[in-house]
Order: sequence, then C-alpha cells, then structure tokens
Amino acid sequence: MTAARESLLAAAREAAGQAYAPYSRFLVGAALAFDDGAVVTGANVENASYGLSLCAEAVALAKAMNEGRRTGLLAVAVVGLATPDEAVMPCGRCRQMLSEMAMLGATDPLVWSGSGAQAVEQRLSALLPLAFGPDNLRGG
Ligand code: THU
Repeated sequence: MTAARESLLAAAREAAGQAYAPYSRFLVGAALAFDDGAVVTGANVENASYGLSLCAEAVALAKAMNEGRRTGLLAVAVVGLATPDEAVMPCGRCRQMLSEMAMLGATDPLVWSGSGAQAVEQRLSALLPLAFGPDNLRGG
C-alpha cells in the first residue's frame, strides 16, 4: 500500500470517530485529498428521520466546498469503523456529489477503501461512468 493511500485511509478512520450514527451504528469516515496537500474529512450524520441521514463522503465534500474548494480533488478514502479492512464503497448519491468537484477541476480522483485482500482502488469515473454534470446544464 502506498504511503499516500495509507495516510488518507488513516485520516478517514480517525474521522469516523466523529460519526453520529446511533441508528445504524455503522460509523463511516471519509477523507478527501487535494492537489495542494490539504486533506478534508467527514463522518456520517444520521437523523431520527432515517432517510435524511448524510453519508461521510457527502459531509466531507460539503466541508471542502464550504472552505472554498472547487477543484484539485485527487483521492477519496472511505472507512467503515466496524470493518476497517473491508471496502465500504461510496453510495450512488455520493459518487454523484464527488463527481461534481471532479468535473469542476477536471480530475479523476482515485477512490480507496479497505485494506489487504479486501482493498479496492478505482477511479471515480469507473464507479460512475457517463456521469451527469455541470456541462450538461450548459448544453456542453
Ligand atoms: N454510509 C456512509 O456514510 N458512506 C458510505 O459510503 C456508505 C454508507 C452511511 C450512511 C448511514 O449513516 C450508514 O452508513 C448506514 O448506511
């Protein structure tokens, strides 16, 4: 495992400690790596109205956007605290949300989850082919 991958997964694992997941008890952390070296993390935030829950990736992306970031997304790590070696892959909504920033910055981030034999590394474009994005709204 490369050092970059290992350290981003470690950041995601640490972020999972801040998850608010009393309903599923499935604590998830996500870490986004940017081309200036910055790492922005998030953890899932659930709600008594279950369907309103936010995934870790969505929280991390919203935090990054609110810090003014729009471009430079190079890698995404996701960790489920209960099963840190097992790959927890971003849900469809999160793939779409991550894709927005990837398209804004013309990057194709690596998505890292799991470790050892369970490790998954995929480009976001492979997880969400033919994605809808901002260009579609402009007729591009
Ligand atoms: N969850 C995430 O935060 N990220 C994922 O990639 C998969 C699912 C959360 C949503 C919910 O709070 C809990 O995991 C169980 O689905």
